[in-house]
Amino acid sequence: MRWPKQVQIKEVGPRDGLQNETTWVETDDKVAWINMLSESGIKEIEYSSFVHPRWIPALKDAREVGRRINRYPDVTYSALVPNEVGLEHALEAGIDMASVFMSASETHNRNNINKSITATYPVIGNVVKTAKAENKRVTGYVSTVFDCPFEGKVDIDAVLRVCDRLFELGIDDLSLGDTIGTAVPSEVEALLEAVTHRYPNKSIIMHFHDTRGMAIANIMTAMNYGITRFDSSLGGLGGCPYAPGAAGNVATNDLLYLLQGLDVATGVDDHIIQDASSFIQTKLNKQLPSRSFNYLESQLNQANDHVQAAGAEMPNHSFELVPQRKREIIYVFLKNQLKNQYDKFRSKE
Ligand code: HMG
Ligand code: MG
Repeated sequence: MRWPKQVQIKEVGPRDGLQNETTWVETDDKVAWINMLSESGIKEIEYSSFVHPRWIPALKDAREVGRRINRYPDVTYSALVPNEVGLEHALEAGIDMASVFMSASETHNRNNINKSITATYPVIGNVVKTAKAENKRVTGYVSTVFDCPFEGKVDIDAVLRVCDRLFELGIDDLSLGDTIGTAVPSEVEALLEAVTHRYPNKSIIMHFHDTRGMAIANIMTAMNYGITRFDSSLGGLGGCPYAPGAAGNVATNDLLYLLQGLDVATGVDDHIIQDASSFIQTKLNKQLPSRSFNYLESQLNQANDHVQAAGAEMPNHSFELVPQRKREIIYVFLKNQLKNQYDKFRSKE
């Protein structure tokens, strides 16, 4: 197995993460959350979606969010854009990059964007043309590259046909989506074998949903094929409303844990990611699925109990805690636990 020295993470939580949520997140909270993400060292953030608000009500405030977020000069802000109406709104709100999208399977494409695959190309062609005239980069998402929730297995040839057309239309980056999280590493290998041979010099991003817990194994496989760009979502939020049962994206928290362990540079501060995950968990009032996030939260909660039992004051857990402070509290907590174990051991001697 080989892995790269550096990986670029695109945070899609504010778009893919929220698009499927029924709990409304206030615009102020979205803005505060995206600002935290901008501070984390993440270099690409998909901040919202300029689709029809009737189709994705959770993101109906995309224009306001785009106008109000702080823009960090070293961060690329993108948004999902289905057509020219969406692009017009996105340009007004401010984007560095437009993300166009379609599926490799006919039925998912029709369910998702109300058009056949053939009828989608001219729409995307016009978006790419206008975006380019405005000096914006364009990412082309292809969904259902392994399986379609309606048609089952999707042929690699069908995927390549769509990728060919998107490159002809002028996209800069290609993002391949395991929309319903069905792939296993052998399937990732088969697809990337074909894709990397056909487009040796193109920028390829992998977008794994983690429905069956395969995303990290699939990312390892993709890194072995030289892929260095991955989409992920804070806490593992996400899903496509037009892919029933699909779970969230691979969690940024879990991906960071993997990459840090492998010594792969990301430039992302995992403490800010933890705080930003706690923040959105509170706003959505539901437990996020990421295991790394939940483990660290449980450690913090134990530390909190420990500090309270000792009659000490602990700052309001955990969003308000600065990352360094958290590290210290966990450290003190673990040290005390070890000391207790040591004392028990000695008392039995
Ligand atoms: P449509 O109804 O076919 O659109 O929807 P239309 O072109 O026939 O227009 C109908 C009306 O909608 C018109 O208004 C348009 O102006 C308006 P009217 O003349 O009747 O007053 N309209 C719009 N309004 C606001 N914003 C727009 C817009 N476009 C048209 N952009 C459309 C077509 C694509 C808009 C619709 O199907 C839609 O919004 N779909 C949303 C699909 C979606 O967001 N899915 C989830 C994201 S994709 C995903 O999650 C997968 C991904 O993560 C990768 C992976 O996991 O695989 C990317
Ligand atoms: Mg997705």
